Amino acid sequence: MAKMKKSKMARAKTTKATTAKAKVGKAKAPKAKAGQAAKPAAKSREAAAAFPKVAPGELRTLFDFVRYAVSRFAEADLAFAHGTTDPVAEAAFLVCDTLNLHPDQFDIFAMARVTAAEAEQLLEVIQRRVTTRKPAAYLVNKAYMLGLPFYIDERVIVPRSFIGEILGSHFDGGDGSLIEDPEAVESVLDLCTGSGCLAVLASQRFPNARIDAVDLSPDALEVAAHNIDIYQLDDRVTLLQGDLFAPLGDARYDLIISNPPYVDDEGMDDLPDECRYEPELAFYGGADGLDLVRRILAEAKQHLTPQGGLLCEIGRGRDNIEAAFPDLPLLWLDTEESEAEVFWIAAVDL
Ligand SMILES: C[S@@+](CC[C@H](N)C(=O)[O-])C[C@H]1O[C@@H](n2cnc3c(N)ncnc32)[C@H](O)[C@@H]1O
Repeated sequence: MAKMKKSKMARAKTTKATTAKAKVGKAKAPKAKAGQAAKPAAKSREAAAAFPKVAPGELRTLFDFVRYAVSRFAEADLAFAHGTTDPVAEAAFLVCDTLNLHPDQFDIFAMARVTAAEAEQLLEVIQRRVTTRKPAAYLVNKAYMLGLPFYIDERVIVPRSFIGEILGSHFDGGDGSLIEDPEAVESVLDLCTGSGCLAVLASQRFPNARIDAVDLSPDALEVAAHNIDIYQLDDRVTLLQGDLFAPLGDARYDLIISNPPYVDDEGMDDLPDECRYEPELAFYGGADGLDLVRRILAEAKQHLTPQGGLLCEIGRGRDNIEAAFPDLPLLWLDTEESEAEVFWIAAVDL
């Protein structure tokens, strides 16, 4: 097992998107069950009726459709928090996916014209994004993390954990890495796995590791199983249903990664409509958001090898966690889009 190093807080480098290695098949995908949260249905019908008409041929290129989508998104004041953080990236993702292109291919084809049938599909998906306010990932059953596609539906939160980027920037064995050798990591636990996206990314970062991935939600585990299957990781990733460490017995791991629910009462009230399509179980972390984080910190040591460590995302709860665990030397990590929302702690310091 790689020796876990302590290092000074460092800003993460941008992680380059890699070429997709798996096909996310819409046709073979398992069906979502209805009713994850209160859906803004009435508003959606009104918005559909008022949606502006486009005459055939008025929009011609991919670029035209992206521009049109951005205008409609701005008009409707949509929220962008599900893998893209701005309307242009969201529109380019929707347009590319509808045309069966990887988002990285947008630049090559931006000025290419679309067929009449494609134009109809594009207008339909843009309209659905605006009138339903569903995250784009649910409309196309796909989300990318670090350039890799994952099958996604309303049984799981749309992947956007900062841990994805941190696995790339702080666990590569190079300067400033928190571990000496990614190839020496033999076992990883992904607590609160959801779609299984972090388990898949961990399998790539730590090529010799066996990975256990736990979630309380049987629905989420069905989606995770589909992604594990797509990436042909059935022999390396084991999915377990249960409450945090409960299904693991006395198993120990070289690395524990976790993006648990951590939204507090105030944050739940402020969630945009888009997030109301996501499972509440994936968000709510108790009054101050930290119920699960406290339990993870209290129990992690019993499930880590002596040289292991815990990487955990907690949102904006840093002050509360430091107040609750004043003796723990938590190392706060930044990414391109976040500051001190993820901590690292070595097992010896727990
Ligand atoms: C914020 S989501 C993270 C999903 C995934 N790791 C990601 O980053 O996209 C949190 C996940 O924790 C699961 N969860 C909630 N409470 C749990 C518990 N007590 N034990 C295990 N998993 C739990 C939810 O079902 C949800 O899938």
